[in-house]
Order: sequence, then C-alpha cells, then structure tokens
Amino acid sequence: MMAAFYNRIRMSTHILVLHGPNLNLLGLREPEVYGRTTLADIDHALAEIAAARGAVLTTLQSNHEGALIDALHAARTTTRGVLINPGGLTHTSVALRDAIAGIALPCVEVHLSNVHKREEFRHHSFISAVAVGTVVGFGWRSYTLGLTALLDHLEGAK
Ligand code: DQA
Repeated sequence: MMAAFYNRIRMSTHILVLHGPNLNLLGLREPEVYGRTTLADIDHALAEIAAARGAVLTTLQSNHEGALIDALHAARTTTRGVLINPGGLTHTSVALRDAIAGIALPCVEVHLSNVHKREEFRHHSFISAVAVGTVVGFGWRSYTLGLTALLDHLEGAK
C-alpha cells in the first residue's frame, strides 16, 4: 500500500504554472482583449488536464518579477517543466528569461491574446528564445493547449 503510494508520487510529472503581472485581474481586465474567463477558471481547467494525465501542478500568480524568478529557482530540482504566461514581463524582462535559461527546464510560453496582432512593443518576447514553444491568441485555451503540449513534450511525443 505505502509502496504504491510512493511509487505514484515518484511517477507524477510536476509542473510549475506561472501567471505574471495583472493576470489576477482576468475576467475584469480589458475583457474585449482577454475575455471574461477568470484566472481561477483557467487554473481549474489546467487542474483537470493535470489530473487526467497524472501530473501535479504548482501554481503561482505574482505581480512581482522577483517572486516569479524565485519560484523558477525553487522549481529547478523538483519540477519537470514550466508553463508560463509572463504578462507584460514578456516584452521587458531579461532577468526572467535568464532565470528560465538558468534552470534549464522545458518551458512553454502562453498568451491569451495574439500579441503579434497588437501594438508593436508586444511583438518581441524575451522569453520565446528560451521556450520549447509558444501558444498565442486562443484566449484561455492557450493555457490548456500549452499544458497539453508541455506534457506531450515531456513524454517524448513527436
Ligand atoms: C498577455 C499579453 C501581454 O502583452 C500583456 O502584457 C499581458 C497579457 C496575454 O496573455 O495575452 O499582460 O501576456
């Protein structure tokens, strides 16, 4: 019984889910751009996928760059991959990019909106070059598609 329990823990795929600045306001914030789905709704949808695939999620939303970086450092030895919507830090943060590169874990970057259709300053991401891939423009489904892609990647799916 105990052996089976520990085996299950060992076999679970631990994923860190990070939501950057202002994403706590989802549902209220510019709904014409980001939709009416809340962050709690998104976390719930991700938890369902994780449960179905035997993955364990640790989730953090922070408006503080340093808190996101600390979470990445802490995940280095305990986590298999990272799903991140860096929010506005996408376009500004060398430090966040360096943290992702530094922990050397597979990372999928997601955005609700299609950043390439928006203002020019949103067209460049400091994160994309250190990500396995990116999903943009599908609203809350960018997250579910991103988590599925990350788990497939970790399982070695082609
Ligand atoms: C965003 C896009 C960013 O440009 C913006 O600063 C956000 C949200 C998105 O999910 O579409 O905060 O990351």
